Amino acid sequence: MRVAAGRRGGSVALVGAGPGDPGLMTVRGLELLRRADVVVYDRLVDPRLLDEAPRARRIFAGKATGHHTLSQERINALLVVHARRGRRVVRLKGGDPFVFGRGGEEALALAQARIPFEVVPGVSSAVAVPAYAGIPLTHRGTASSFAVVTGHEDTDKLRSNVDWARLARAADTLVVLMGLKSLPRIARTLVANGRPASTPVALVRWGTTDVQETVTGTLGDIAARAQRARLEPPVVAVIGDVVALRERLAWFAEGRFLKEIAQ
Ligand SMILES: C[S@@+](CC[C@H](N)C(=O)[O-])C[C@H]1O[C@@H](n2cnc3c(N)ncnc32)[C@H](O)[C@@H]1O
Repeated sequence: MRVAAGRRGGSVALVGAGPGDPGLMTVRGLELLRRADVVVYDRLVDPRLLDEAPRARRIFAGKATGHHTLSQERINALLVVHARRGRRVVRLKGGDPFVFGRGGEEALALAQARIPFEVVPGVSSAVAVPAYAGIPLTHRGTASSFAVVTGHEDTDKLRSNVDWARLARAADTLVVLMGLKSLPRIARTLVANGRPASTPVALVRWGTTDVQETVTGTLGDIAARAQRARLEPPVVAVIGDVVALRERLAWFAEGRFLKEIAQ
C-alpha cells in the first residue's frame, strides 16, 4: 500500500535514479517523476531523466566530491517546505537512495516532520557498474559473497568505519564506492592483511554511461595504474577473482561517445 498524501496533498518520494543509464530507472520512479511538482536532484543523475518532468520545478542539490551545493540540512528542509506547501516532491538520487546516498537521513527528517513519504529503490552502482563492466559479483566456484563498502574518509560526512583489516578476508568480492582517493591505502591494507597482491582489481568510471571506462590491475599495482590513467571519480572499484571473468564477459562497448566524436 502506498502512503497517503498529507493534509494539503503534499508528499515526498525518495527515488533511486539508477547509476547513469536512464534505462535503469524503475517504472515506479518514472511514474512519480512524470507527475512531480518539484524535483530535487543530485549530480550523478542523468539530465535526460529530468526531461520526464517538464512541468516540475527543478532544484539542483549538488554534491560533487569535496563540495556540496546545498548542505544536507538545507536539502532536508527544502523537502519538508515544498511538501508542506502541498507539492508532490521527488527527491531524485543516484543509484539507490539507501545505499550511501544519505537517503536515510532525508527519510528521518520527513518522518520527524510528519510528511508522508515513500522510498523507491534504485539500481545501485554497486551492482550495476560491475555488471556493465562484465564482472559478476558472485560466481560459482569463484565467489560466494560480496561486500559493498565506502572508501570515503571524510569524517564529518560518510564516516568511514570500515575495518579494512577484517574485511580483507571477510568477503570474496569487495565493491568499493567513493574509494579512488584512498585506493593506495586500501590496497596496501588488504595486502597486509592476507589478500594476495595478485588479486585482480577493476576500477570502473562513469559505469553504464557512454563514457564508461575501466582500468584493471592487481592489488599490487592498481594504485599506480589509476594514477597513470589519470582516473577521476565517480569510480566503482571491484576487488576479487571475479574481475578476471571480464576478459570473457565484457559486453558493453566502452568509450562509445569518445569514439563517435572522434569520427
Ligand atoms: C554518494 S555515493 C552514492 C551511491 C548511490 N546511492 C548508489 O546506490 O549507486 C557516490 C559514489 O557511487 C559510485 N557511483 C555512482 N554512480 C556511478 C557510476 N555511474 N560509475 C561509477 N561509479 C559510480 C561512485 O563510487 C561515487 O563516488
